[in-house]
Amino acid sequence: MSEINKIYNKISKVVPDIEWDFHAPYIEKINKLKKEKNAVILAHNYQTPEIYHGVADIAADSLALAIEAAKTTADIIVLCGVHFMAETAKLMNPEKKVLIPDMNAGCSLAASITGDDVRMLREKYPGVPVVSYVNTSAEVKAETDICCTSANAVKVVESLGVDKVIFLPDHYLANYVQKNTKVKIISWQGTCVVHEKFTSNEVNDIRKQNPGIKIIAHPECPPDVITASDFAGSTSSMVKYVKNNQPKKVLLVTECSMSDNIQIENPNVEFIKPCNLCPYMKKITLKKIFNCLQKENNEIKIGHNISARARMSVQRMAEIGR
Ligand code: 13P
Ligand code: SF4
Repeated sequence: MSEINKIYNKISKVVPDIEWDFHAPYIEKINKLKKEKNAVILAHNYQTPEIYHGVADIAADSLALAIEAAKTTADIIVLCGVHFMAETAKLMNPEKKVLIPDMNAGCSLAASITGDDVRMLREKYPGVPVVSYVNTSAEVKAETDICCTSANAVKVVESLGVDKVIFLPDHYLANYVQKNTKVKIISWQGTCVVHEKFTSNEVNDIRKQNPGIKIIAHPECPPDVITASDFAGSTSSMVKYVKNNQPKKVLLVTECSMSDNIQIENPNVEFIKPCNLCPYMKKITLKKIFNCLQKENNEIKIGHNISARARMSVQRMAEIGR
């Protein structure tokens, strides 16, 4: 069976035929171009199924994307995700050309804080180390002691051996970390536009309507949503939970593409799908991936002064791992 037919068989359960006719030529062209240019496509779990299953070499959570970016021997990395993820890939592998299909694929968390804000926090809390969620700009990472993702936030905070940390920018993730550690957390007021919209009423209603359902929330959700759920974890923990537990019905309280992507690999699990779209993740399309790889444009550049300091905080996180 040809490569493209194999991909079709895989994603036809979640991608309608009318869309497939549009996607197929791009998938073929991108996969050919990748080989010609020795490029690798790293995609976040929130990318649409035609990207996740059609062209990605690695699809993962933000921690794994950072680690994989450091390991690749490809000449070009195309990061299908948001801008901070592409910057992180560049920090982890500065010799490589890192491209992002749409420079405007931002993130409400990354936009909520600047390097000046971090300097102000350091003045306010002298001597208190700064832990930054990887969902921040390189400029903020440069002002940071160590980065973390939702997959290792508690472990990173506890690795510092202190009794107080500044944890930014996600207020709800900070809240989640605070519930799981004795270290005092000083937080910032950033929120994710996707996860802040979920409510515990919504989650409780779904549980009532679907007895026995397992509900998994991302730690960027408000605290009452996490309390109303059975489990909280990063996007890769969600993938693992569904794969290992094979619940009859599941609700992933997160971005919409997650359920579609995992559905394909878990045909016996029924996914209940109220979800929210990330407007930034959804800026990435096959057409934009093709154009950026063909023209090698939208290259990530980080000034030397920022990159040297930002790299240290990401590398410290990678050393700690999951
Ligand atoms: P993960 O690190 O869990 O993949 O999440 C990244 C993200 O942007 C969630 O909104
Ligand atoms: Fe940022 Fe939220 Fe989108 Fe993740 S889902 S990229 S945190 S806005």
